[in-house]
Amino acid sequence: CCLNINYLQSLLVSLCLLDNCWDVRYNKTICAIEGSSVDLPCTYTYPSGQTITQTLWSKTVDPSRTPKDLEYGDVVQYHGDNETDCTLRLKELRKSDSAKYSFSFKTQQMSYSGPFKVTLSVTDIQVMINPSVATEGEPVWIYCKVSCIPKRNSTGFIFYKDNVHLPLLDKRWMDLKPVSSDDAGIYSCALLGLEHYRALAATLIVNYPPRSTTVKVSRSQKTVLGSSSVILTCDSDANPPVDKYIWYKRNGSAVSVLQGETKRYINSVVSLKNQYFCEAHNKIGAQNSTWDIVEDVTQSSLMISVLVVVAVLTTGTLLVFGYYILKRRHHRESQLRSESRENIYADPDEYVNLQEDTYTALLCDSILIYATGLCTLVEVWF
Ligand SMILES: *[C@@H]1O[C@H](CO)[C@@H](O)[C@H](O)[C@H]1NC(C)=O
Ligand SMILES: *[C@@H]1O[C@H](CO)[C@@H](O)[C@H](O)[C@H]1NC(C)=O
Ligand SMILES: *[C@@H]1O[C@H](CO)[C@@H](O)[C@H](O)[C@H]1NC(C)=O
Ligand SMILES: *[C@@H]1O[C@H](CO)[C@@H](O)[C@H](O)[C@H]1NC(C)=O
Ligand SMILES: *[C@@H]1O[C@H](CO)[C@@H](O)[C@H](O)[C@H]1NC(C)=O
Repeated sequence: CCLNINYLQSLLVSLCLLDNCWDVRYNKTICAIEGSSVDLPCTYTYPSGQTITQTLWSKTVDPSRTPKDLEYGDVVQYHGDNETDCTLRLKELRKSDSAKYSFSFKTQQMSYSGPFKVTLSVTDIQVMINPSVATEGEPVWIYCKVSCIPKRNSTGFIFYKDNVHLPLLDKRWMDLKPVSSDDAGIYSCALLGLEHYRALAATLIVNYPPRSTTVKVSRSQKTVLGSSSVILTCDSDANPPVDKYIWYKRNGSAVSVLQGETKRYINSVVSLKNQYFCEAHNKIGAQNSTWDIVEDVTQSSLMISVLVVVAVLTTGTLLVFGYYILKRRHHRESQLRSESRENIYADPDEYVNLQEDTYTALLCDSILIYATGLCTLVEVWF
């Protein structure tokens, strides 16, 4: 019965030229972001002389069921009045608030509910990355997904990379074509004007083959007075990280593969007259190191320690030498003095020779140590 009457009434509304009719007007559809607040703007009219006795908003989730009357509270608020405004405010929107809403009112004479309803769509905001694990060079598409776009006084989408917002876009996607390793990061997006409601972040991983592969050379700390072993280290930047190393030695045009597939190649007989190089592998690809072998920085500190040792040895040698000369002179003086007196020793010559031998041996030792240090220095240096 009532529906038909209402329908007729609404037809009358469209014919209504005087502002004296039964009518409720709202926007047909409203879109809002999950978590935000929204107003459902609404106005109503009725013939003059009537007094409003009741107003009511109801919600229809399922058209086959009877609409549910809304109860006002903290999150559902009536922002209208008892005359012409029937705006409804909904706060802290959830997806379950998506429904058709309608307003009805009563006067002392009759109750009126318009034929139309306002459809509220609550959308969440998501950032989608396709593919989320990419190989450098591939195209990657980053999409800001909303099921509807809320009305705002500004348009545009904001993408965030590692929490920094990228230049504003008027479309809801970004093409990374081709993707580079610099594009890897954590992405999010938001609607301009609704930046407070950001999509949950998604991560873009960009894999790339080994690059900047170099060989660094360093020597073990045993260098001084010992045989030095050489450590070659293969450094490479790769994602995923390098999982296999192959070491090569080149002698002329002959290239041979060395034992061991580790990052470090340690050998005491490495002569850098040969060309050593490494090949770094990950699941994306492989790269050979450049020909230049970089001296490790720890080398210079080693060099300093070698220089210090050499300096100490030199000083030591000079001291021993000086001591020897002084001692000799002193010995001669005491010899001369003792010649004037009675001889203390049975055979003074024997005594002198013994002393001299000791000094000579000491001197030789120092020179030997000094020479060894010098050799080590020369070896390290070249
Ligand atoms: C509702 O409709 C009016 C008139 O067409 C428009 O000005 C207003 O922006 C709309 N509001 C929303 C939230 O869509
Ligand atoms: C509208 O009228 C009803 C009943 O007279 C009253 O309870 C209510 O507070 C009024 N609402 C507004 C917004 O004036
Ligand atoms: C957009 O609307 C908001 C209220 O919703 C207002 O505070 C803001 O100043 C407006 N911005 C512009 C650029 O008009
Ligand atoms: C390099 O190869 C030549 C022969 O081709 C060989 O005589 C020489 O010993 C090799 N050098 C090293 C350091 O292996
Ligand atoms: C690296 O060098 C070796 C020996 O010359 C060669 O067999 C290999 O293909 C090279 N690898 C790459 C990735 O170029």
